[in-house]
Amino acid sequence: MKISGFVLILLILCCFGNTNANPVNLEAEKLIRQLNLFPQDAKSEFMEGLNYQAKNTEKIVEKKFRFPNLIESSTSSSSSSVQDLGHHAGYYKIQHSHAARMFYFFFESRTNKNDPVVIWLTGGPGCSSELAVFYENGPFTIANNMSLMWNDFGWDKASHLLYVDQPTGTGFSYSSDERDLRQNEEGVSNDLYDFLQAFFAKHPQFQKNDFYITGESYAGHYIPAFASRVHKGNKNKEGIHINLKGFAIGNGLTNPAIQYKAYTEYALQNKLIEESDYEEINQRLPECERTIQACAVEGEVECLRAYSTCISIFNSILNIAGDINYYDIRKQCEGSLCYDFSNMEKFLNLKSVRQALGVGNIEFISCSPTVYSKMKTDWMKNLEVGIPALLNDGIKLLVYAGEYDLICNWLGNSNWVHAMEWSGRQDFVRAANVSFEVDGAEAGKLKNHGPLSFLKVHDAGHMVPMDQPKAALEMLKRWTQGKLTAEAAAPAQTQNHPHLFPSVL
Ligand SMILES: *[C@@H]1O[C@H](CO)[C@@H](O)[C@H](O)[C@H]1NC(C)=O
Ligand SMILES: *[C@@H]1O[C@H](CO)[C@@H](O)[C@H](O)[C@H]1NC(C)=O
Repeated sequence: MKISGFVLILLILCCFGNTNANPVNLEAEKLIRQLNLFPQDAKSEFMEGLNYQAKNTEKIVEKKFRFPNLIESSTSSSSSSVQDLGHHAGYYKIQHSHAARMFYFFFESRTNKNDPVVIWLTGGPGCSSELAVFYENGPFTIANNMSLMWNDFGWDKASHLLYVDQPTGTGFSYSSDERDLRQNEEGVSNDLYDFLQAFFAKHPQFQKNDFYITGESYAGHYIPAFASRVHKGNKNKEGIHINLKGFAIGNGLTNPAIQYKAYTEYALQNKLIEESDYEEINQRLPECERTIQACAVEGEVECLRAYSTCISIFNSILNIAGDINYYDIRKQCEGSLCYDFSNMEKFLNLKSVRQALGVGNIEFISCSPTVYSKMKTDWMKNLEVGIPALLNDGIKLLVYAGEYDLICNWLGNSNWVHAMEWSGRQDFVRAANVSFEVDGAEAGKLKNHGPLSFLKVHDAGHMVPMDQPKAALEMLKRWTQGKLTAEAAAPAQTQNHPHLFPSVL
């Protein structure tokens, strides 16, 4: 049977990983690894890394670092120092937690100190943002010989970049107390807001810069919740004002009722299933929709029921479609891994790398099944509900989607974006599609009105910055500079195809 939903990367990397531990302790160690629970007796060794004990009262412990094995590019001055690079790794002691520490990277812009500050969140739930650092939009990529090469299209060419491992238990983030595991967007967004407060207190020179929230996949849940939390904090003058200008969701899961409905249509259009399959699987839609509605008002049991009911729709498609990579339907799922991210785990487990980061001997987890399970009741929640208030206050939203992703496909995203009720809805729906051009070629289709933009990216799957790095950097630049608009682009040649949004218009 096929594995469901976003769990894929997670199952592969966690459960087929090295299990060369003493069999007696295997179960316990597995638990610790999955939870990133930090064993009490190992604490001091770990803390050495960031000299934690000495500064126990500080909210943030951060160090400038330089990755070993970084190959200087021919254009950068040879042997740039740690100071020049402006690369930081740190732990934030989560304020409203028992013992949780949140790991983050902060890469200052390679271009200009006035560039916006951009935070990136990877999904899962429970997958580390380091996946994006090394495979999508971070400053470098990992060569097979474990050298780091500069990424010519890293988003640090146009922004100061923050990558956070969250919720607690993800990546290098950890707690010694199970109560710190989050199970809903309230917990997630409060932790992220508290982190930003501590971060900007530590880096006051960036408080005035524009601030953007970005991310992918399950972050389609985190991002709207986080943006609303920041906006509320600003309005209530809770702390340092965060200069929030916009939020961007890449191939996200935001409005499950609409997006689950789009699976069969997307699959049929792309010939993954046949008409008869389409009819048959669609019979499950009413129950999926009913349980999602119930989840919104009734609580955990209904949310779990919605999760299993709706996910069976996705699984049925995969059972028919065979061994496709459901993050990119042009590809096969290679072996047990749809993508091979093993270089990252190898790299982050090098002793020299761990020393540079100050993470001591803590085990790195690409995707944590524990965090994933804990968030199951959050999965079918509709995170679109808070967005209109943000748009109406002029905060920009960009929803973008690589066209070959099945799991968070562009059609479902386009459908919820078009159906969303906000003051500019009618104008948005009527707006023309324009061509998103990069280097004189069409890299995608853009629709925009006021603060809302939707971009379908050509020749890309779930991980747009990995598949189309140049177009993705261009997208970020234009969007943050207010140039990702119909007016700034040439009108598209192709005409509208009105049949594409039948379920919502
Ligand atoms: C590692 O691989 C990169 C990219 O292929 C290459 O440029 C570099 O010279 C290699 N380094 C070593 C030490 O072999
Ligand atoms: C807009 O662009 C999408 C993406 O290419 C295209 O498939 C669709 O036909 C267009 N829809 C409308 C309503 O213009």
